[in-house]
Amino acid sequence: MFTDLVLASAHHLLVFLLAAIIAIEAVIVRPDMSGGGAKLLSRIDAYYGATAILVLLIGIARVLFGLKGWEAYVYNWAFWLKMLAFVVVGLLSIRPTLQIRTWRKNADGDAFSLLPDDVAKVRGYILAQIGVFTLIPVLAATMARYGY
Ligand code: HEM
Repeated sequence: MFTDLVLASAHHLLVFLLAAIIAIEAVIVRPDMSGGGAKLLSRIDAYYGATAILVLLIGIARVLFGLKGWEAYVYNWAFWLKMLAFVVVGLLSIRPTLQIRTWRKNADGDAFSLLPDDVAKVRGYILAQIGVFTLIPVLAATMARYGY
């Protein structure tokens, strides 16, 4: 019971942190972003990756060591839809991460400039991530109650 409580608490805190990080990225990526902004964004993006990995590890620990047992999830369609949504968010983050790396490199030079097209593309991917991410808590609540 106590292990489940610790894992569930960690899971919730990490998931809120992940949501905050995506929102912060959406705020920083703007057509008037400075070189300093690009450096900050690159740090935030590293935290994004690390937090996503922790969410994955704690999530797997909940499946294996949670109260219900792994069978409750492996045969649960809502669980697999939630995993699919998580993977889609991860895939949608690849393009922004590559662009953020390029911006970070350019920020070391004297004159930092941005192409409006690149900003629009990255913003589009971030908003798409937010859209798919929003489905995950709904699928989580579903998998905890139905689906098996
Ligand atoms: C690969 C990553 C993940 C795995 C393996 C995972 C696994 C789990 C497990 C095993 C539970 C326990 C459900 C139960 O009580 O029966 C859970 C609950 C929950 N998860 Fe995840 N999770 C992952 C990612 C996420 C993400 C990214 C979010 C949010 C965006 C999220 C939100 C939730 C919520 C809100 C609950 C509580 C559901 C409820 O009790 O109503 N999870 N997760």
